[in-house]
Amino acid sequence: MAPEVFARWAARTESTLERRLPASAGGPAEPARLHAAMRHATLGGGKRMRPLLVYAAGSALGADEPLLDAPAAAVELVHAYSLVHDDLPAMDDDALRRGRPTVHVAFDEATAILAGDALQTLAFSTLAEADAPAALRIDWVRTLAGASGVAGMCGGQALDIDATGHGRQEVPDRPVPADGRAGDLGLLERMHALKTGALIRAAVRMGALAAAADTPTLSRLDAFAAALGLAFQVRDDLLDIEASSQQLGKTAGKDVAQAKSTYPALLGVDGARARLEELAEEMRGTLAVLGDRANALAALGELAIRRSY
Ligand code: IPE
Ligand code: IPE
Ligand code: MG
Ligand code: MG
Ligand code: MG
Repeated sequence: MAPEVFARWAARTESTLERRLPASAGGPAEPARLHAAMRHATLGGGKRMRPLLVYAAGSALGADEPLLDAPAAAVELVHAYSLVHDDLPAMDDDALRRGRPTVHVAFDEATAILAGDALQTLAFSTLAEADAPAALRIDWVRTLAGASGVAGMCGGQALDIDATGHGRQEVPDRPVPADGRAGDLGLLERMHALKTGALIRAAVRMGALAAAADTPTLSRLDAFAAALGLAFQVRDDLLDIEASSQQLGKTAGKDVAQAKSTYPALLGVDGARARLEELAEEMRGTLAVLGDRANALAALGELAIRRSY
């Protein structure tokens, strides 16, 4: 897939975010500190994977790009909020994000909590006020709300916090057989599916809804997105071990230091890599019937698996 397409979609995302965020030209000036924190959290960084998935799914099925602008920005706003809260001292206690100080470090903790709250509500007003039919706006809101809440990202973050401290303090260097650990593995995959997979599935679904996809197409794309979501987090877990803070723009080695429950901690680095290859195969299988229309989605699936930051 031509990188120009992704650059164009990322630029559309940037410009919608810029328009929706406060303190852009003509907006109210107060409270300036909260505005600045929201902009710090959202603009000028990040891979924009979830917006790209909205555009890739929608375009594959024939939706016009302008119709995809609102859901693309909305899912990124929820993602940005989730990162601000994930980094708080009460959660992962991280000081570096997207190559810059985290919001609670650059501003303060209360401002970071409020910035996350305000980014979340901005996501939903972006959908509610979109230039799109009312039924579609309601479907988008239902999809994103479901994926963000207790049955999605927040629920997964709760499982993550519960499991923190129960992981290993060192990562096994040989594959660990999954036999007898099916329960642990099932819990880990449910946690990943919720904390990371849910928003990724919502991104793909919102794009497909914009194209009025039929039910079989929605479920096929959902199977693709579920595999991608899990792969994305397994890759994140591996990068925490294999990459540097500079390469990632966030603190490397945090998961082992905090005894997080991760894929490599449970199955070893090679076990995690093997799972990624299975998921790559699964993604290719789910997209096959869509043919060339799915090229951008397929490229994003590969990126989730092979990314280096
Ligand atoms: C980081 O997400 C948190 C996870 C869900 C793994 P990304 O890797 O998409 O972070 P950005 O948006 O590119 O910074
Ligand atoms: C975060 O997972 C998932 C979210 C819902 C934000 P991580 O805690 O592994 O994400 P990073 O590594 O801090 O980006
Ligand atoms: Mg976390
Ligand atoms: Mg974290
Ligand atoms: Mg991580």
